[in-house]
Amino acid sequence: MAKFTGIRQALSAAVMVTLCVSWTGATTIDFKNLCAYPINLVKTRFLESPVSECQLTASGGSCSKSYDDGLMIFQSGRDSANATMVAFNLDVMGQDYYMVAVEDGYNVPLKLTTSTGGFNITCTEPKCPEGYLFPNDDAKIHATATGGTFTLTFCPVGDGAPVAISRVRIAKQKMALRRIQAAANQQSQEARKTVPQGLHRFRLALDFDLE
Ligand SMILES: *[C@@H]1O[C@H](CO)[C@@H](O)[C@H](O)[C@H]1NC(C)=O
Ligand SMILES: *[C@@H]1O[C@H](CO)[C@@H](O)[C@H](O)[C@H]1NC(C)=O
Repeated sequence: MAKFTGIRQALSAAVMVTLCVSWTGATTIDFKNLCAYPINLVKTRFLESPVSECQLTASGGSCSKSYDDGLMIFQSGRDSANATMVAFNLDVMGQDYYMVAVEDGYNVPLKLTTSTGGFNITCTEPKCPEGYLFPNDDAKIHATATGGTFTLTFCPVGDGAPVAISRVRIAKQKMALRRIQAAANQQSQEARKTVPQGLHRFRLALDFDLE
């Protein structure tokens, strides 16, 4: 973990130096809960334990957060093994990658919109066609410019019934993170050629840690 943090800091410094011209600032995510029940919004950052990011009250609760970069997953409930998962890989060469993963489960309907012209994802059923449904379903991973505002709305039509929850399965979250990371790596391959060695080492560390 310490090693990862060090490499990450080195990467941030390198990126600031080399890419400051195109750096656009933090991305904001607005969270809204239109469900008739409260939602414990849980965030899992890469290699970190799940944390409660916000408590969203029933029928209108909201919060807003800004993030500089990184791999992270949001879900409803700390202990949902089969949760609807919203995964981000923020600021990869000025792009934010995002998806809604329902491959492993679904516990709440949601909608994810962007302010920057990216694809808006709606997922209101367990096998929603706009969700990441099976391994290598990479067409469901989208990208948009870093620095805008995402809006994640739970129960976008206000009628979502609670779905039974159970234990966290970190392996599934890692799988989702690995997939969005792989897609981001692939799509930024050209840009990657121009960045310093530190970035390459960072990616190798990520790949290693995700095995
Ligand atoms: C998760 O969903 C799968 C497939 O629908 C089901 O077989 C399994 O029992 C669920 N796991 C839990 C812990 O609820
Ligand atoms: C996505 O949703 C936002 C917010 O409702 C809207 O402003 C935007 O036009 C939508 N984008 C697309 C590509 O449909």
